Amino acid sequence: MKRLLLAGLVLAASGATTRAFAQAPDGKALYDENCKKCHGAIGSPPKTMVTKFPKIAKFDAEFIAKRSVDSINKVITKGKNEDMKSFKDKMNADELAAVAKYVHELAAKAKP
Ligand code: HEC
Repeated sequence: MKRLLLAGLVLAASGATTRAFAQAPDGKALYDENCKKCHGAIGSPPKTMVTKFPKIAKFDAEFIAKRSVDSINKVITKGKNEDMKSFKDKMNADELAAVAKYVHELAAKAKP
């Protein structure tokens, strides 16, 4: 009986850690789902989008020189205009922060 109880405790504990990991938002997955179609897989917008939105942001060295994770977070939370809309209804604060961090990483990795 004691053994069973112990096994149960171990299971419960491991279940809790798995859940904690699953809860950490995946910035890349969120980006791919919400931003990729306009901004491109690696932050370089496809031609069709550049034609449609001449001012669309390219996530590169020049971009990162002017923006921090916080400023990116602000844009996606509040939105900039009707083309670059707010994502605050689609993602919670943790998810917005994860996407902002991912965009910053993409830009930092981009070739000049
Ligand atoms: C419908 C297409 C579209 C989608 C989807 C989209 N964007 Fe944009 N984004 C734009 C356009 C267009 C601009 C340029 C807006 C302007 O400056 O007029 C822009 C600008 C930006 C900027 C720069 C704003 C600035 O000037 O500081 C950031 C950062 C950004 N987008 C991040 C994101 C992120 C992150 C997502 C996904 C959560 C996303 N965008 C989804 C079209 C889009």
